[in-house]
Amino acid sequence: MEATAWPGVFREGRELYTINADVGHRVHGETLRSVGGVEYRTWDPFRSKLAGLLLRGAPDDVFGTVHSVLYLGGAHGTTVSHLADLWPEEPIFVIEKSATAFAPLLALARRRENLLPILADAQLPERYQADVGSVDLLYQDVAQRNQATIFAENVASCLSPKGRGILMLKVRSVTQRRPAAAIARETRAELVRAGLSVLGEVALAPFAREHVALLVRR
Ligand SMILES: C[S@@+](CC[C@H](N)C(=O)[O-])C[C@H]1O[C@@H](n2cnc3c(N)ncnc32)[C@H](O)[C@@H]1O
Repeated sequence: MEATAWPGVFREGRELYTINADVGHRVHGETLRSVGGVEYRTWDPFRSKLAGLLLRGAPDDVFGTVHSVLYLGGAHGTTVSHLADLWPEEPIFVIEKSATAFAPLLALARRRENLLPILADAQLPERYQADVGSVDLLYQDVAQRNQATIFAENVASCLSPKGRGILMLKVRSVTQRRPAAAIARETRAELVRAGLSVLGEVALAPFAREHVALLVRR
């Protein structure tokens, strides 16, 4: 098992791993491996776009320095659980609007104390801004038509001045009509108009088709 340049992420062959902060428990059917008394969980890039981003070539400092995270679109907690492995001591606020997805997220949070799920609509950050405060990392994966606007409004409400953001842009949720490259370009322009610098753009195929990760800072 080798450490990678991303703190807390390990690699063996083509597989990525995080150290299991909830020893003996699986979240999404992943493989658990014990090496030298440490338990690792496989991080599947076909189930987690963030693992896909790392494998497609994220910069070493993609996360920046993290003491708190706001995650929009937690779903059942697959990617969230790996972030909780990376930063087991830091608060990770998770916004999810679907009550169906929220139930497993709550169950996950009962086992991992730094996960703080909030049943809310990410389009309304004013509803949770007071609880979340100012975070170092904003991560969004909501697959909505107005993804860029949601992201920009959450940046304005909750991202610290030196914070980093990762927007997992599902281009086909914006429109079916225009080419993916044009949608990514328009999204970047919207983020720049909102006062963000776009540090990088990474296409996530073959792990997530028609998805682009946009890496930003304020
Ligand atoms: C593609 S899934 C997220 C997968 C998850 N990020 C992962 O990697 O494990 C998108 C999720 O975003 C949620 N979602 C969509 N629109 C939302 C909104 N406006 N506010 C909060 N959650 C939203 C959906 O209910 C769904 O659970």
